[in-house]
Amino acid sequence: MAKNLKTIVLAAGKGTRFKSAMPKVLHCLAGKPALHYVLDVAEAVGSLTTYVVVGHQAEKVADAVGGRARIVVQSKQLGTAHAVKMCAPFFRNDAGTVLVMCGDTPLLDRGIVRRLAVKHEKTGAAVTVLTCLLDDPFGYGRIIRDAGNKFLAIREHKDASAEELNIREINTGVYCFNAKKLFSAIGDIKANANKKEYYLTDIIELFLDRGLGVETLVTDDWTANLGLNTRADLALSEDILRQKILGRLMDKGVTIVDPSTTYVENDVSIGQDTVIYPCTYIHHDVFVGRNCSVGPFARLRPGTRLGNNVSVGNFTEVSRSVLGDDVNMKHFSFLGDTTVGRGANIGCGTVTANYDGKNKNKTLIGPGAFIGCDSVLIAPVKIGKGSKVGAGSVVTAGRDVPAGKLAVGMPARVIKKV
Ligand code: UD1
Ligand code: CA
Repeated sequence: MAKNLKTIVLAAGKGTRFKSAMPKVLHCLAGKPALHYVLDVAEAVGSLTTYVVVGHQAEKVADAVGGRARIVVQSKQLGTAHAVKMCAPFFRNDAGTVLVMCGDTPLLDRGIVRRLAVKHEKTGAAVTVLTCLLDDPFGYGRIIRDAGNKFLAIREHKDASAEELNIREINTGVYCFNAKKLFSAIGDIKANANKKEYYLTDIIELFLDRGLGVETLVTDDWTANLGLNTRADLALSEDILRQKILGRLMDKGVTIVDPSTTYVENDVSIGQDTVIYPCTYIHHDVFVGRNCSVGPFARLRPGTRLGNNVSVGNFTEVSRSVLGDDVNMKHFSFLGDTTVGRGANIGCGTVTANYDGKNKNKTLIGPGAFIGCDSVLIAPVKIGKGSKVGAGSVVTAGRDVPAGKLAVGMPARVIKKV
């Protein structure tokens, strides 16, 4: 953990190539906005205060930040150096480290950033740049070194010579700065002659002119700097993230029959020996117990909790519902805003009608209840403990089925004890 580290996240840019009405840093990967991943990294490395520089659609981005960071407005996007400079008032007399990251790099690994901060503090350099070796360095700033491998400059793609374009080591856009040195030099950066923007990357040469140390940390993790510049980048990043999430679940003893067709978002817990069959989508904020069977073709939506030994089979959707231990729901059914007691059986084709056009209403299905095939339960309604609903019944709102009784028909009526 870095000792005295604050963070600046650059998120004011327009993201023209992304072609989106919504700010690109708010696009979700595995159920979470890109910007939140970057804030996670800042928190994981122990950032004391984090500043997010906003500009394009500033209010929306600020809303998404919530209380997790302070907002700094850059009203005109005059370049990355200009964006950092907007934070200068907050760093007067600050002798600590400033970590600079971009808001559109959700795959950035916290371990690498921690190593960057540690190296930076150890060497006492004015800046330590996270660099990466890429097979295709197109578009990135190139790391210029002399024959002795000494770090000399960062050259933007547009400004690079033919020879420099062959360089495979690139600037990831992640840096640790000495706060004092950063803010005493940032105002001296001149606008780039080609683009009329102030480039943060020009600070390397400025530091060297002043006899200050500049360092790099080279990572071979090419995903670390994968920015969301296009929709194709979004899809690729999502895929990489998804495989990481599935990998972590498999490490915990979950069987994923086909990782290429299984989608699990962030903030999902799945117990050991549960089997996830192909073509299943599990949203964020879902808990699945041990020894369950989910899918194929199942969708578990946010707020779903499955106990142990639960079976949720093909063509099923569960939303904001709690299924107790040993519940079976094996074939095409929908449960929304429902609580199902232990050992209940949800017959094939059961639907809870939870939405009346205005409100979402609750359904309670007692332990050991048996819901016959093709039944509709119109919420709000309660099906008692150990009761039965005959196949094809429609249990209307408020017409609760008492414990231990059989109800059939449309509308369903209690006809006898079970
Ligand atoms: C930048 C680096 C480049 C590096 C690449 C890594 C510069 C000049 N170049 O290029 O060396 O290889 O990142 O991805 O820094 N932003 C603002 N305000 C501005 C301009 C940009 O907040 O006025 C933000 C953007 O929202 C973005 C980040 O800064 O999050 C980087 O800007 P971008 O224009 O994407 O820079 P690149 O051309 O990718
Ligand atoms: Ca970029």
